[in-house]
Order: sequence, then structure tokens, then C-alpha cells
Amino acid sequence: MTSVGIDAVEVWTGKLKLDLPNTFAPQKGDDPEKYTKGLGLEASSFPDTYEDIVTMGANAAKRLMDRKGLTPADIGRIDVATESAFDNSKPVSTYVAGCLEQVYDGDFHHANKGERKFACVAGTQSIDDAYNWIAAGRNRGLAALVIATDTALYARDSSGEATQGAGAVAMLIDEDPNLVELSHEQGYGSADETDFLKPQQQFPSVDGKRSMQVYLARMREAVEDLEAQLDEPLHPEDFVYVPFHTPFPGMVRKAGLLGYRHILRDTDIEDEVAEEIGRQPREESFDDRESYEEAIQSYMDELKRTEQYRSWYDATIEPTLNISRQVGNWYTGSVHIARASALQAAAEAGRALTGERMLVASYGSGAQAEVHAETVCDGWREEIGALTIDEQLQRRYDLSFEEYERVHDAHNHDLDTEVEEFTQPSGEFVHAGWGRMNERKYEYVE
Ligand code: CAA
Repeated sequence: MTSVGIDAVEVWTGKLKLDLPNTFAPQKGDDPEKYTKGLGLEASSFPDTYEDIVTMGANAAKRLMDRKGLTPADIGRIDVATESAFDNSKPVSTYVAGCLEQVYDGDFHHANKGERKFACVAGTQSIDDAYNWIAAGRNRGLAALVIATDTALYARDSSGEATQGAGAVAMLIDEDPNLVELSHEQGYGSADETDFLKPQQQFPSVDGKRSMQVYLARMREAVEDLEAQLDEPLHPEDFVYVPFHTPFPGMVRKAGLLGYRHILRDTDIEDEVAEEIGRQPREESFDDRESYEEAIQSYMDELKRTEQYRSWYDATIEPTLNISRQVGNWYTGSVHIARASALQAAAEAGRALTGERMLVASYGSGAQAEVHAETVCDGWREEIGALTIDEQLQRRYDLSFEEYERVHDAHNHDLDTEVEEFTQPSGEFVHAGWGRMNERKYEYVE
């Protein structure tokens, strides 16, 4: 089979910024370090009044199509992953296609369109769907456009408010990809959970602390499922980066430690750290689960201070968090900006990555984790060098707290609030009003 994977990626951030330590924390009476050190966040991206999941997704897709010189005739499939959809029937991909058809010759009438839902893991599931479509030879030589787009807004004064974000990632899935090749090495951890959900409501109901436990439990299951299919056990040095779903970097700090501890077992590195902190506890040596878990917890407290763990974390995890720290949670797009962030850091450091493998760890509440291995392709440096995320982040309008509250209200579907835009759209799609059947209307602003 020919190689299939992500050929190109583009990112569109919401055009507003909420500074968490300097603007948000003082209003909430919080220590700014709760955000910078605890959650690991500097800022959230917010959508301006004319932005939504369609405009951000279409703008990221247009940038990708322009850069790759694509026309609608080159695309056989458009899948949008989102947990911020506003229509239970008409998929966001039809709106996105409608936007793109305003600016390109030709149309997407031949393209299969859909919308994927499983909280934040849906972006990765859409890539899987596209991969399967190509691998099955049903793509007629065409590529798939996968768009992960979300406005991750929480109710004001709820605990999740600190981890909001908004943005879109567009990815081209194709044969002989330039960026990363996908593999069959994949594991799942999935269970019926009620940790984070939106039962016919715009803002989520969240059991915050429990959602973190569920994230870790499903992630561990997914790694075990992957391991069960491999000939060799996993080793911490197998992967150059491990991009995780990143609701906030502090969550990945926990997941990284758990994952490292798990794949450390029976390796040469476990022997090395054993000289300092002993070997990790084995469940079979304990009479009950509770005492085993206590022993594991104290082992992990010591493990995180070892040189071996700290250098693994700094090299393998830390570079995946650079963009997330500045934008907050992008739900379906989050793990994909973690991958982009790592590749961008590698390019800046002049590293040679072609042929190296990454373990991508996706997660969606409700809940499902998926881990898979992918290999960096030889066009990665040029692809990632074309990202304009740094300029986009710098151009964001820095909101005052009172402006933040107004724009939050403007996006609240239950309120009818007129708020002036904060930025001027230029060369992008905007939400321009409502149609006769209450559908959203979009136009391209030159
Ligand atoms: N200096 C340094 N650290 C500080 C600090 C200070 N002054 N003050 C607090 N901290 C630390 C805390 O110790 C804590 O770290 P640890 O967990 O390592 O102990 C961290 O900062 C956060 O502080 P709190 O636990 O007090 O924060 P909180 O109670 O306000 O809420 C949250 C945290 C529950 C994650 C909340 O933000 C939330 O509900 N978020 C939405 C749900 C979510 O993102 N869940 C993640 C898993 S589910 C998922 O991944 C899917 C998804 O995208 C939603």
C-alpha cells in the first residue's frame, strides 16, 4: 500500500486574546501562578463577533488550499470535527464548502461531506476516516480535507472558564504525504462516562476533577491496547515527541508522568532510575489495590524528580505545549496543534526528524482515548515552516476583562447582545447574518 498521512496543516486562531495571569486572574481573585504554573496557560484565544466554527474552519482551509495550489476538483471528501456545532442536521462541512465555493472556481458537489462527533477525539477520528477511505482505494486519486474547529467556551464563573479557547486546524490527508505518515499501530480506551457533556446546551456541564481522572484512565487503557498488539514492548526512547490532547498543559504534565511510568517498566531506564528510587511497585506484590496505588503514587512523586524523567519530559513533551499555552483548549484541534507545536520547535532548533516516530495521544470526554504512531516525512520542515501561527498570535486583540465579558455574551446563544467587532476582517470569511430558515450566512471580505 502507498503511504497515507497528513500532507499539510494550517491553523486559524480566534482573533481575540484573553490574558489569563494579567487580565483574568485579578478579576477572579486568583494568584496568576495558578494559570501560568498550575494550569500552564498564558492566554486564551477568543472568536471576534464575526467569527465562529465555520469562519475559522473555512479560513484555515482556504489558507491550506491556496498554499498547496488546490482547487475543489482536488478534494473528494470534507470532514469537520467539532463539539461546538449549531445544527443537529446540516453538517458544518456544508457551510465550509459553501464558503470556499464563493472564492474558488468549481465546486465541491462531488465531495463526500460529514461531521464527526466524539468530543475532542473527533478530529483524530476524522483523520482515521480519511485514511481508511484512501487506504481502501475509494478516493479516486483525490485528497481529503479534515477540519477540526471549535469555540471552546464555558459558562462564566464556571471552573472550566480558565481553559477556554477558539480556533481551527485544517489538514490535508493524502497519499505520499509531506508531513507525517500514519500507521496501523493504534490503541483505544473507551467507556461510557459522564465527565463532560453538552446535552442540547451550548456550554458544557463538567465534573472537572473527575474529567481529569477519566482522561488518565482511558489514556492508560489505550496504551495497554496498543501494547497488546506490538511484538516488542514500548520504550520511552521509541518516540521523538508525544503530542497529547491538551485541554491545558497541566493535564499533559500528569498524563506524561503516568505514560512514562507505564512504559518504563522492565526497561534499561527502569534499572538506571532504580539505583536512585528503587524499582516501581508491581501489583502482584500487594494484597489489595489500595496499597498498590499508594505505593505507585509515592513512586511517581519520586520519579518526576529524576534526571531521566525530567530530560525525557523536556525533550518529548514540553515542545508540544508551546502553542497551547498561548491559545487554551481548542477541543478537536488541540492534539493537532500539539503535533504542530512540536514540529515547529524541532524546525526552529534545526533538528533532523525525517523517519522519526511520534506517538499521538488523542482524547475525547464521554470518553475515549486513542493512541497511534506516526512517522515524520521528508517534507516536514517546509510544511511546518509555512505555518503563520506566531504572527497570528501576535496580531490578536488583547481584551480587557469588561470586553471579554461582552464578547462572551455576544457568543452566548441564549442572549441577544449587539457588540461591535474588535478587529477588522480582511481577506477572510465572516459570519454576515441569518437566512430565511435561520441558517447562518457567510461572506468573504477582501
Ligand atoms: N501556583 C502554582 N500552582 C497553583 C496555584 C499557584 N498559586 N494555584 C493552583 N495551582 C495548581 C493546583 O495545585 C492545580 O494543580 P494540580 O492539579 O497539579 O494540583 C492547578 O493549579 C489547577 O488548580 P485547581 O485544581 O485549583 O483549579 P480549578 O479547581 O479551578 O480547576 C479544572 C481545574 C478542574 C481542570 C478546571 O479548569 C476545569 O473544569 N476545566 C475543564 C475540564 C477539563 O479541561 N478537564 C480536563 C480533562 S477532560 C478533557 O481533556 C476534555 C476537554 O478538552 C474538556
